[in-house]
Amino acid sequence: MLLMVVFLMFKNFLVQSFKGEYTVEFTEHLDALKSNLLEGDVVILDSNIQKLYPNICDLLDEHYIEVVEANENAKTYEKIGELINRVIGFGFSKNNRLVGIGGGVVQDITAFSASIMFRGVDWVFFPTNLLTQCDSCIGSKTSVNIGDYKNQLGGFHPPRQIFIDFSFIETLSNLEICSGLGEMMHYFLLQKDTNLEDLGSEIVAAQSDKIVLAKLIERSLGIKKSMIEIDEFDTGPRNIFNYGHSFGHAIEACTNFEVPHGVAVAYGIDLANSISVQLGLVDKEFRNKVRTILACIWKSKALPAVDISDYFTALSKDKKNVGKQIKVILTEGIGNMYKTTLPVNDDIEALISSFFNNRTYERDL
Ligand SMILES: NC(=O)c1ccc[n+]([C@@H]2O[C@H](COP(=O)([O-])OP(=O)(O)OC[C@H]3O[C@@H](n4cnc5c(N)ncnc54)[C@H](O)[C@@H]3O)[C@@H](O)[C@H]2O)c1
Ligand SMILES: [Zn+2]
Repeated sequence: MLLMVVFLMFKNFLVQSFKGEYTVEFTEHLDALKSNLLEGDVVILDSNIQKLYPNICDLLDEHYIEVVEANENAKTYEKIGELINRVIGFGFSKNNRLVGIGGGVVQDITAFSASIMFRGVDWVFFPTNLLTQCDSCIGSKTSVNIGDYKNQLGGFHPPRQIFIDFSFIETLSNLEICSGLGEMMHYFLLQKDTNLEDLGSEIVAAQSDKIVLAKLIERSLGIKKSMIEIDEFDTGPRNIFNYGHSFGHAIEACTNFEVPHGVAVAYGIDLANSISVQLGLVDKEFRNKVRTILACIWKSKALPAVDISDYFTALSKDKKNVGKQIKVILTEGIGNMYKTTLPVNDDIEALISSFFNNRTYERDL
C-alpha cells in the first residue's frame, strides 16, 4: 500500500529511439495490464509470474497467451521459431502487438520475435524483476541464442510502451534484489555527482525498504536513458556501461551462471577498480570505499571456486589471447570511467589470480 503512494511520485518519461519515442510508465497492482491491452494483443508470459500472480490470467483471458519457462533454452532461435509459428497460426497479423510479461528471457523472446515478424511489429513490456526494471527494459537490444551460442542473434527493436509495475518486486528473493542492486551500482558509479556515503546507505536500505528500491530503479533508468539517447547502437560512449561487465561476464561463465548477473558485475567492479589502483589511475581509498558498498551486495552470494585458467580464457574469449590484451573499462574515479586495452602482463595476471585464490575482494588495500 505504501508503494502505491510512492509510484504516484514518479514521473513517467519518454525515451527517444531511432524508431520514434516510447513511454516508460510507473504503475502498480497490475492496473496498467487491465487498462492498456488492446484487442488482438498476444501475450508472452513467464511461467513463474503465472504461478506467483494467478490473477494475471483472469486479466488476460481474452488474449492468446504463450507461457514460457524463463531459461536459456526458451530463447533459442529454434524454440522462438516454434513460438512464432503458433502465434501466426493463431491469427496474429502485422497490426497486432506482442506483450511480454517477465524478466530478461521473456524480454528477449518478445523483442526478437517482434523484430522479425512481418518485418517488425510493435511490442509492449511489463518487466517483472529488478534487472529488467532498472536496466534492460530500455535500450532496444534484442539477443537470443542459436545452438550453443548465447546471445549471438539479435538487433535493435525498441518497444512501444514499458510499464514498471512495482508490485512484482514483492516476490523477488534477496539474491535477485542484490543482483539488481549490483547492476544499478555500476550505473551510479558512472555519475560524477554520486556521493559514496549516501549510496552505501541506500544500497543497504533498499534491501528491506521497497520505497528506497523503487527510487533507485527510477534513478538507474534515468542514467541509462541519457546515454542510450546519445548512443543507442552502442558504438561509442555507451561502451562505459561495460564497467564491471567484462570481468563479471567471465565470472558468470566460469561459475556456470551460478553467480547471478548483477552480483557478478559487483565482483567485476571491484576487479576493475583494483586494477585501476595497481595502474596508478585511482587512489586505493576510492576502491576501498566502493568495495565496502559492493560487499553488501555480494554477501548474498559467496564466490564459488574459480579456475584461473578458465577465467582468463573466458575473459579473453579466445585461448590465443591469453597473456596478451583485453578490452576493459577502467576508472580514474567516480564518474570517470573509460574504455582501454589492458595488456595482461605478469602483474595483472597476479592481481586477478589473487582476487580469486586469496579472495582479495574481502579486504581493503
Ligand atoms: N536484451 C537485453 O538488453 C538484455 C539485457 C540483459 C540481459 N538480457 C538477457 O536476459 C536474461 C537474464 O535476465 P533475467 O535475469 O531477468 O532472467 P530471467 O528472465 O530468467 O529471470 C530470472 C528468474 O526470475 C524469475 N522472475 C521474474 N520476475 C519475477 C518476480 N516478480 N518474482 C519472482 N521471480 C521472478 C524468472 O521466472 C526467472 O526464474 C539473459 O538471457 C540475458 O542474456 C537481455
Ligand atoms: Zn548488466
